[in-house]
Amino acid sequence: MSTLTLSINKLDYQLDNLDPRTTLLDVCRQHLQITGPKKGCDHGQCGACTILINGRRVNSCLTLAVMHDGDEITTIEGLGLPDSLSELQQAFKDHDAFQCGYCTPGQICSATALIEEVKQNWPSYVTTDLQNPDGLLVQEISERMSGNICRCSAYPNIINAISQVLENTTKNEVVDGKASKATITKGSTVSGIWSPPPSEAQLSKPTQNKASTTVSGDRS
Ligand code: FES
Ligand code: FES
Repeated sequence: MSTLTLSINKLDYQLDNLDPRTTLLDVCRQHLQITGPKKGCDHGQCGACTILINGRRVNSCLTLAVMHDGDEITTIEGLGLPDSLSELQQAFKDHDAFQCGYCTPGQICSATALIEEVKQNWPSYVTTDLQNPDGLLVQEISERMSGNICRCSAYPNIINAISQVLENTTKNEVVDGKASKATITKGSTVSGIWSPPPSEAQLSKPTQNKASTTVSGDRS
């Protein structure tokens, strides 16, 4: 059994006699009644349990609480509350970026870290210009959020909400004394009806077979 102190949303919690096999997600939900992080799959597949640890997004179902003594942990409750929403939380509201809301805490935690990653010019898997990643491209946002599943398929509005905050925050952003290289590409941001970007396999298929190249609304 372990004794540790966890700093969650700027409050310290001391846990005595904790089974060292307990995940951070279970500590939050079952021991501390911090229920913002959701348990979807409990296997690192859905992203519903995403929280921030020292500013980085982490699946809390895949990490043990005993590994985080002294770390700064933030859940959705630490980003904003109903009367003091963060800009991203407000954007999710404004863009109607949820239905049931089960995935939303994880989506917003993940997107909060995404915005910092874009501001730091971190490339993603689909970045073509590693020296100058354009985090505002639909493909970029989609790839960077690919670890967060929404069973209600609210993806179009989720992308729109993130896109709006990215536009606001990357303009004239200064990182470590240097202007951020993140740029806004006109026409690349999302508006109106959104469809997922085609996969490489879809792009490489012959164009005469139109039925096989159609991108469906299912984001798999
Ligand atoms: S509950 Fe952690 S990724 Fe699904
Ligand atoms: S809003 Fe229902 S799972 Fe995403």
